[in-house]
Amino acid sequence: MYVTWVLGFPTGKETGDFLTIDLGGTNLRVCWISLRGNENEIGIKQNSYKMSPKIKTGEASELWSFVAESLKTFIEEQSLKGTKEKPLHLGFTFSYPAIQEYIDQGVLQTWTKGFDIKGIEGKDVATQLRTAMSSLDLPVKLVAVVNDTTGAMIASSYHDSQTIIGAIFGTGCNAAYMDKISNIRKIRSSDEIKKLDPETPMAINCEYGAFDNARKVLPVTPYDDQIDAQSPRPGEQAFEKLSAGLYLGEIFRLIILDMHARHLIFTGQGIDKLREPYSIDTSFLSNIEDDDTPDLSTSAAEFQSTFGVSMTQPERQFSRALAKIIAIRGARLCATGIAAICRHQNISSGHVAADGSVVNKHPKFKKRWGRALGEILDWSQSEREERDESGEGDESQMGPIVLTSAEDGSGVGAAVIAAMTLERLQRGEKAGVKGTGE
Ligand code: GLC
Repeated sequence: MYVTWVLGFPTGKETGDFLTIDLGGTNLRVCWISLRGNENEIGIKQNSYKMSPKIKTGEASELWSFVAESLKTFIEEQSLKGTKEKPLHLGFTFSYPAIQEYIDQGVLQTWTKGFDIKGIEGKDVATQLRTAMSSLDLPVKLVAVVNDTTGAMIASSYHDSQTIIGAIFGTGCNAAYMDKISNIRKIRSSDEIKKLDPETPMAINCEYGAFDNARKVLPVTPYDDQIDAQSPRPGEQAFEKLSAGLYLGEIFRLIILDMHARHLIFTGQGIDKLREPYSIDTSFLSNIEDDDTPDLSTSAAEFQSTFGVSMTQPERQFSRALAKIIAIRGARLCATGIAAICRHQNISSGHVAADGSVVNKHPKFKKRWGRALGEILDWSQSEREERDESGEGDESQMGPIVLTSAEDGSGVGAAVIAAMTLERLQRGEKAGVKGTGE
C-alpha cells in the first residue's frame, strides 16, 4: 500500500499543457496534453518510441538516456517551446512499486513484470531521469511520478465523478483508490502529513500484485511455482503471477509441456517451438477459448501455424478447457482484489475504471470478473438485474459496482495529476511536494 500524494479527485476544471511519459511495456509513450478545464476538450499529441528488448534487462544509464533522447526527439518533432525559466511540465507514469515521500520522487522497491534493469532498485527514479534530461539540456521540469492505476483513476474521474477505483488488468495487475489521510497509519507521523487536514483524501496505490508473497493464503499449482522460480524476482508478485496477462499464456505453455513430457498429448511430435519461454500471449489463449467451430479447427490451425504441431480432437478439447480454466482463475482473482478494497472502504457503489490488455482484449474477462465480484460482495440476483446499466445481461455492468473503461491514465491522468500539483503549489500548499514546479 503506497501513498501517492495525489490529494483528492480532480474538479474537471484543471488546465494547462503537459508533457507525459509512460514507461511500462515495449514502447515509451510520450504525449503533449492540453487540458482546457473541460472534459470534452482535451488536446492530445503523442508518439511512441520503440524500446529495444535489451533495455529491459540492461543498465540504468541505457534506460535513462533512451528516455531522455526520446523526449528530446518528441519536443523537436512537436516544436514545443520551453526555457530554463519557463520549463515544460512533465508527468511521469512509472508503473512499478515506488515509495514516494513526495509526489515528485519515487524510490523503486523492486522491478515487476519481467523488468530487471540494474542500478535502479532502491534509487529515486525521478532523480535519475532529471540527471539524464539535464545532460541533454532539456527544458523540462518533472512535476509528478504517477502509477498507472492512480493515473487511470484520476483520468477517469476527470470525466466521471462516480469513479471509485482505478485498476489495471494487463501485463500486471493492480489498483488504486482514495482514502482519507487519518486512515493512513504508515505515514501518520511524517512531517509532510502533519501539514494537512486529517480529512484530506489521498490516492493509495495498493500494489496488490505483491499480495501473499509469503504464500500463506492462495492455493498454487506446481506450474505457478515454476513461473515464480524462473522469473527474475522469485518470491515477488505472488498474486500477479496467478492473475496478470504476462503470465496467463506462460502457465498454459508450462502445462502443455508437462503433459507432453508425460506422453499424454502430442505424442511422437517435436514441440521445440513450444519450448520458447513466454511464447504464448493472452490473445492466443482467448482465441483458443473463443473457437466456435464444431471441430475446433481454428485452434488447431493456430497451433499448427504457430508451433508446428497437429492436434487430435481430444487435444483440442483439452487445450480449450485449459485456456478457459486459467482465464477464469485470473479473472476471479482480479475481482477479489477489487472486492477487498470495496469491503475495506465500505464502498457500496461506483465505477471501477479499468485498463490493460486482459480487460480490453479477453472477451470473457469482464463477465467473469463481474460475476465473481457479485458473489464475493453477496449481491442478490434481483439486485444485479435491477441495476443492469447495459441492459444486455453483461455481468460486469450489473449490480451497484460496475466496470468502466478507464480514460487514458498515463497521458491525461498524469497531466491532470501534474496540473493538480501545480495548483497546490500556487496556493502555497507544499505538503508532499519537494520541488517548486518552476
Ligand atoms: C505491476 C506494478 C504496478 C502496476 C501494475 C499494472 O503490478 O508493480 O505498479 O500498477 O503492474 O501495470
